[in-house]
Amino acid sequence: MPALVLLGAQWGDEGKGKATDLLGGSVDYVVRYQGGNNAGHTVVVGDQKYALHLLPSGILSPGCTPVIGNGVVVDPSVLLSELSGLNERGVDTSKLLISGNAHIITPYNVTVDKVTERFLGKRKIGTTGRGIGPTYADKINRVGIRVQDLYDESILTQKVEAALDGKNQLLTKLYNRRAIAVDQVVEELLGYAEKLAPYVTDTVLVLNQALEQDKVVLFEGGQGTLLDIDHGTYPFVTSSNPTAGGACTGSGVGPTKISRVIGILKAYTTRVGSGPFPTELFDEDGEALRRIGGERGVTTGRDRRCGWFDAVIARYATRVNGLTDFFLTKLDVLTGWEQIPVCVAYEIDGRRVEELPYSQTDFHHAKPIYESLPGWSEDITKAKSFSDLPKNAQAYVKALEEMSGAPISAIGVGPGRDETIEVNSFL
Ligand code: GDP
Ligand code: IMO
Ligand code: MG
Repeated sequence: MPALVLLGAQWGDEGKGKATDLLGGSVDYVVRYQGGNNAGHTVVVGDQKYALHLLPSGILSPGCTPVIGNGVVVDPSVLLSELSGLNERGVDTSKLLISGNAHIITPYNVTVDKVTERFLGKRKIGTTGRGIGPTYADKINRVGIRVQDLYDESILTQKVEAALDGKNQLLTKLYNRRAIAVDQVVEELLGYAEKLAPYVTDTVLVLNQALEQDKVVLFEGGQGTLLDIDHGTYPFVTSSNPTAGGACTGSGVGPTKISRVIGILKAYTTRVGSGPFPTELFDEDGEALRRIGGERGVTTGRDRRCGWFDAVIARYATRVNGLTDFFLTKLDVLTGWEQIPVCVAYEIDGRRVEELPYSQTDFHHAKPIYESLPGWSEDITKAKSFSDLPKNAQAYVKALEEMSGAPISAIGVGPGRDETIEVNSFL
């Protein structure tokens, strides 16, 4: 049986948590492969609402094994509090597996994230301040701390020393902060070792053996395509690879095992943090999308920037991820507009451009070229099949599909599990 990837096709917050939870009941494993607790995935089950940051959304499906892969960065204190929060609400988390090769977000990584942003001033990225970038930087610089290091005090101490050597110079001499003591960090990290021990394993072996036994593995992306360190709007990106290739490197499952790549696509566009956003709205339409769509970050509580749907970005997501399907979310939010503009191309320095420009300068200058599609006013939240949708809503979905380059196989008409129209089956 196949492995599937589910990822964000825009700038994050597309509704990956809901989509993952929906499939969670039919798959054996749900795997996070990158990012960390910068993610905020909301899942609504009946009258219960869950905000997951580090745990895969499959944790809410009893038959499913949630896995934190080697590509994820783990803040142990956040993980433990997320686990106990779910336990208090009666969710069984005992099946969780964590890769021993996943890197740990240490307290000094969080400090460095915050001081670096402050130092950047108006050039700041607008990070979530969770230590994500500095932790991946340590990984690439080969001074990272991995989950397995918690089980060898001597190695852990040596590694923390190596990591703090340079950082303390920076903190004290450049950023005017106090030096961080090695002993204190080691003591804090050792304090997590026993609590995490039951979950830590060789997840690469587990996942590959599961696939050999015809189990279904679903990879749940954090963030989104345009936040990808390689393929996103660099430098206004996160420090990992949310795109489909990241599912392989972040889990140790080869690309030949992946049979389907599903892009989660919001029926309009949002972005949190700094960086270019051609269809961003600064008027009352933007305000209405934010209000009706509840566009406020689950992780940092920041208002999300809102704009119309951008087909150039959707096409780009199809290309760089090799998308086989889209899951269109939040169509219900667009109910009530008489006309809905959709960006079909950009104008850059007087030229019409159909594809995402590779040049950062061009993208910063891109102005949206809109086509207006007729809206609908009927409530669509109870629609169960495509034919239940008003004709104009059907036409909107079909137009987006045509422009975006992959079939729309599911449509979200509300936050709940059952507020979904299945067009083609994913499994
Ligand atoms: P994620 O980070 O991609 O998992 O997305 P978030 O959870 O950060 O943001 C998506 C928000 O939209 C959440 O509050 C979801 O409950 C909600 N949501 C997801 N799908 C739909 C939908 O089809 N309609 C509506 N109205 N809300 C949705
Ligand atoms: P989910 O999984 C939206 C953004 C931040 C910032 C940039 C870098 O819920 O879709 P970081 O802390 O990662 O170094 O910040 O990336 N960002 C997200 N935006 N949704 C997310 O996650 C995000 N995770 C990071 O706002 O602009
Ligand atoms: Mg989110």
